[in-house]
Amino acid sequence: MCNNRSMDAPEIVQHEGLKSWVAEMAELCQPDQIVWCDGSDEEYDRLCQELVDARTFIRLNDDLRPNSYLARTDPSDVARVEGRTYICSRTEQDAGPTNNWMDPTEMKQLLSEKFDGSMKGRTMYVIPFSMGPLGSEIAQLGVELTDSPYVVVNMKLMTRMGNPVYDVLGTDAFFVPCMHSIGAPLADGEGDVVWPCNPDEKYIVHFPEERSIWSYGSGYGGNALLGKKCLALRIASTMARDDGWLAEHMLIMGVTDPGGAKTYVAAAFPSACGKTNFAMIVPPQAFADEGWKVTTIGDDIAWIKPGSDGKLYAINPEAGYFGVAPGTSYETNPSAMDTIKANSIFTNVALTDDGDVWWEGMDGDPPAHAIDWQGNDWTPESDTKAAHPNARFTAPAIQNPVIDPLWDDPKGVPVNAFIFGGRRSGTMPLVVQAFNWAYGTYLAATMGSETTAAAFGQQGVVRRDPFAMLPFAGYHMGSYINHWLDFGRRIQNPPRIFGVNWFRRDAEGNFVWPGFGENMRILQWIVERSHGKAVAIESPLGWMPRHQDINWKGLEDFSEADFHKAMSVDRAEWNQELLDHEELFLRLYDLLPVEMHSIRNLTASALWRSPERWEMNTDPT
Ligand code: GTP
Ligand code: SPV
Ligand code: MN
Repeated sequence: MCNNRSMDAPEIVQHEGLKSWVAEMAELCQPDQIVWCDGSDEEYDRLCQELVDARTFIRLNDDLRPNSYLARTDPSDVARVEGRTYICSRTEQDAGPTNNWMDPTEMKQLLSEKFDGSMKGRTMYVIPFSMGPLGSEIAQLGVELTDSPYVVVNMKLMTRMGNPVYDVLGTDAFFVPCMHSIGAPLADGEGDVVWPCNPDEKYIVHFPEERSIWSYGSGYGGNALLGKKCLALRIASTMARDDGWLAEHMLIMGVTDPGGAKTYVAAAFPSACGKTNFAMIVPPQAFADEGWKVTTIGDDIAWIKPGSDGKLYAINPEAGYFGVAPGTSYETNPSAMDTIKANSIFTNVALTDDGDVWWEGMDGDPPAHAIDWQGNDWTPESDTKAAHPNARFTAPAIQNPVIDPLWDDPKGVPVNAFIFGGRRSGTMPLVVQAFNWAYGTYLAATMGSETTAAAFGQQGVVRRDPFAMLPFAGYHMGSYINHWLDFGRRIQNPPRIFGVNWFRRDAEGNFVWPGFGENMRILQWIVERSHGKAVAIESPLGWMPRHQDINWKGLEDFSEADFHKAMSVDRAEWNQELLDHEELFLRLYDLLPVEMHSIRNLTASALWRSPERWEMNTDPT
């Protein structure tokens, strides 16, 4: 029924709006055929085989990595393209100074030219999907039209996709239309390349008022899997502003204490700054022995709504992980390694001679020979990297051995604490608790991070990334900050807000904090603080733990002096930091809430009263 290769929709599709939109788009893009996806395993296997036949996929060794594939992209198509991402709201002010903007009418004109005939020689797939558990009040439906079978199989792993969605769509349910073309039509008889895309022109476009998405030219990740960043963050953040909820670039985790009590925490870190790692954290042995346990609800996106009981409930709108491969190992993230043992898709990693995958940072010795992400021979002596730094794995969430039993609960889980953290080699202490919601909003609004492979630009330069949402907010960042302030005013007992920095370095450039599993020590303090327990003292920036307030069991080679290095607040660094905050505030000035200026001034005042280098053992008088 569902392998329908004619232009007609199968019986199960009863939604006239959907049918006429598909017909209209097919007329525009002129595909050879339309396939209405059913989301079955048979369909997945068939498309994977077609991708193998087209040489886009290489099937990995079934003994080592069952039912898994490797894709190598075009070198021009390896990451999100922020410079080509647009928010086309009616007014430029609504998009704000941190987004690219074009007049929606002009943009539609331009897009209709790009999409005209863009699927010639290809198949148009109709992908019905739900972001969030099917039928959950917090969930949203979308339908993506794409000419990329790679997108279809990734969407199958990343979302709830297929026939059950047609049922929920019924005859007239609302869905977000997501139009995608790789922008590489084939002339009659023209052979295909391994990774078709449009190397010259890419457009990732959002129309927030009409809640629609148009993406052209790229087949990679967040550019092409439109449920993820485009729908679940850019469009959803606009819905959330309008309807009083939050759509955030956050992981969600459950923390069980030795008494068996469970606390849910949501944490925002910019791209490639450790969300997947933290979401699957394996507590140190001493913690496990005490009875601490951590489980994953999500690793990238959280949708958060106030419940009728006054608590905040969060769901993970996704159903899979699209995680950074390099650096992932049994040492840094064993649960991720177990998650990707089978049934996974790898993009831009290296291929070993025995048909398995490899990347920089994987356990053990590098292979003596491999094929790198560009298809060239590679040995440990090569000057180039075997895997692209933004190489990714796609895997179903249910394969995560530490998945939370409530990860799929339509109600969501109650959140007690928010954590914000960037990649900062200086300035930011290991952990601080904001004085209150407004200070927490300030902390998140002024977050900075040193750039990584996922964010184009010079490596290691601090860029302001408010709420880790700079590339993902669907409207003016000043209003975004205001929405957070306002949201906090409406809840009785808002979650506590914390800042962390796992990435501080010493003068020699070494990380001062061991990170990874050891982050559990900081998490314990955060969880306890979120229940009004554990001791903290006032620092110029907020509440901080003293050395004796952290559980150090099982960590021998981290001294009290090391802790002070990780926690110190340097006035000269902070004066510079506050100047950077001011620069951001001037950019966002037209819609920035006045509280931000006030808190900046109060922070300057607190720093002025403090020693030049504030440390935990400083007498706070
Ligand atoms: P997106 O999927 O791009 O949104 O990113 P993410 O936040 O999920 O990134 P991910 O967890 O894949 O981050 C991976 C990078 O963070 C790797 O370079 C890791 O080595 C590094 N990382 C994660 N946790 C830690 C930590 O505790 N300390 C240090 N130093 N590095 C860490
Ligand atoms: C990110 O860049 O934050 C990601 C990967 O999570 S992508 O889906 O490609 O945007
Ligand atoms: Mn992300």
